[in-house]
Amino acid sequence: MSKQTVLVTGGAGYIGSHAVKALQQEGYQVLILDNLVYGHQDVAETLGAELIVGDTNDRALLDQLFRDRQISAVMHFAAYAYVGESVTQPDKYYRNNVVGTLTLLEAMVAANIKAFVFSSTCATYGIPQQIPMTEDHPQAPINPYGATKLMVERILQDFDVAYGLKSVIFRYFNAAGADPDGAIGEDHNPETHLIPLVLQTALGKREAITVYGTDYPTADGTCIRDYIHVNDLADAHVLGLQYLLQGNKSEIFNLGNGNGFSVKEVIDTAQEITGKSINVIFGDRRAGDPPALVGSSEKARNILNWQPKYADIKLILQHAWQWHQKRHA
Ligand SMILES: NC(=O)c1ccc[n+]([C@@H]2O[C@H](COP(=O)([O-])OP(=O)(O)OC[C@H]3O[C@@H](n4cnc5c(N)ncnc54)[C@H](O)[C@@H]3O)[C@@H](O)[C@H]2O)c1
Repeated sequence: MSKQTVLVTGGAGYIGSHAVKALQQEGYQVLILDNLVYGHQDVAETLGAELIVGDTNDRALLDQLFRDRQISAVMHFAAYAYVGESVTQPDKYYRNNVVGTLTLLEAMVAANIKAFVFSSTCATYGIPQQIPMTEDHPQAPINPYGATKLMVERILQDFDVAYGLKSVIFRYFNAAGADPDGAIGEDHNPETHLIPLVLQTALGKREAITVYGTDYPTADGTCIRDYIHVNDLADAHVLGLQYLLQGNKSEIFNLGNGNGFSVKEVIDTAQEITGKSINVIFGDRRAGDPPALVGSSEKARNILNWQPKYADIKLILQHAWQWHQKRHA
């Protein structure tokens, strides 16, 4: 088993922590860099991973880490990811997501580290022109958050040409679920994602869940989204890392479920899994919400041999429910 060291930025956050666990299971040494603005110190403790509390904008810290530790690759989850906030405070997003990433990449080039796995997003595509979306779908983000991720994708192309820095870019659809072992899961504050909001309502932590729009051109009138289990995402990251460490060229992959589920289906399934009745408020459509967003992940299956294990929405909700009950006990 490999004992290479991987720096995981944002590893105290939701998706990053699941990737840390997957890396540990494959025998990698993991070093987490997280500023804990949204991450949780206890996650690193639970995983028994070394946590450096620090920021990707801190070049001196990065230089020191790359000098003192034998780091083979970087997995970069650290970013701010609230779409609404990115509209009202774009400066915060460009500084953290673009400048912070550029600083990290410059430090990697200086330290001659050439393998980078990046969390991009389906938000780089903007409004879908066809479903399911493939990697060659035009990219026209409709908010600053999506724009920051697209800018980093472009920087990565240019750093490959100029410095030979190889990257795997993953464009995720909606990450969901939790580690089936129940040790880690999703704990955003504020929370904006549908599944945790629905489960918090089931737990009585929220009065009701609001469904934005019931007159979309979908079977039940509510929006359709693609939910991908966070452990399947984590597995793909390990495969992407191995792909790079084997000396392959830079690539871009969607990571989604391939099946969309409507907001109503998610709520109905959550009622079934939790055995609780969930209070629903039917509201108006929100600006910028397309009727359906579903990705094709065929490329990741073909090139990385990625085989998602938890595509069933019931499993995603069961694992999330197990985690939420424990976290909010
Ligand atoms: N959650 C999703 O559905 C989703 C979908 C598409 C893309 N993504 C991307 O995946 C990544 C992880 O998302 P998440 O849901 O786990 O978010 P998260 O907020 O739980 O994790 C991000 C972590 O990065 C840390 N961080 C932020 N800026 C930092 C900086 N400058 N230096 C050090 N640490 C910093 C935060 O404290 C947090 O722990 C993000 O890049 C996000 O844009 C997430």
